[in-house]
Amino acid sequence: MTDGRVLDVQGLQAGYGQVTVLRDVGLYVDPGEVVVVLGANGAGKTTTLRAICQSVWTKGSIRVTGREMRGKDTADVVRAGVAHVPQGRGTFNDLTVLDNLEVGAYVRRDRKNVNADIELWFSIFPRLEQRKYQRAGSLSGGEQQMLAVARALMSRPKLLLLDEPSLGLAPLISQDLFRHFGAINREQGVTMLVVEQNANLAFAIAHRAYVLEAGMVSTSGSAAELREDDAVRRAYLGV
Ligand SMILES: Nc1ncnc2c1ncn2[C@@H]1O[C@H](COP(=O)(O)OP(=O)(O)O)[C@@H](O)[C@H]1O
Ligand SMILES: [Mg+2]
Repeated sequence: MTDGRVLDVQGLQAGYGQVTVLRDVGLYVDPGEVVVVLGANGAGKTTTLRAICQSVWTKGSIRVTGREMRGKDTADVVRAGVAHVPQGRGTFNDLTVLDNLEVGAYVRRDRKNVNADIELWFSIFPRLEQRKYQRAGSLSGGEQQMLAVARALMSRPKLLLLDEPSLGLAPLISQDLFRHFGAINREQGVTMLVVEQNANLAFAIAHRAYVLEAGMVSTSGSAAELREDDAVRRAYLGV
């Protein structure tokens, strides 16, 4: 039963020029799930998301709602319903908060619902509403990450890809951000694939997890299972 999958990646290889970073990655995401890919620095987490978006070379299969994306353009992957929040945020610093959200809706045809969505994400992230005419570049790191996520959600994606959203944020700010992600998944039904080094944060909202080591999936299972796994605990939970 793979037809209903939002994302189905099989035998994925990917890299840069002569360099192969992903050697064999298989993973899937079902509708409504939060799936996390855990991995140390350099494991290939960012490359995995870039491969899904077709911004690096790839081999293997990457299906989004059943359609093969390998060999297509990044724009086709976006049109298939994938929104990517890259590492280091991905907001337009010189645009206002409001303009960033408008830009995020550019792929949509249902223009009349765009304003309603802006109001929805403002209600979920009130700090963004308070700062709607401020330049994105003037926001704090946590606010910029909220904006990057709200901007991505403006495309009403079938799958939201988040690249280490906690990077560079203070622990309490990261926790708050992840609480928001959990609520957005539960209340708005947004399906997410999150790559993280911080397992404590990720396990708080994940349904399932994969561990990526040197470009290969070494372990996978439910978040509850992996949280009890000794190797995972030692490597990623510091216990
Ligand atoms: N543009 C690039 N050109 C060549 N190698 C790269 C490039 N970007 C990343 N790499 C290499 O790919 C490997 C995985 O990187 P990355 O996917 O960014 O890991 P992670 O996000 O898990 O920290 C690293 O060894 C890194 O040096
Ligand atoms: Mg990375």
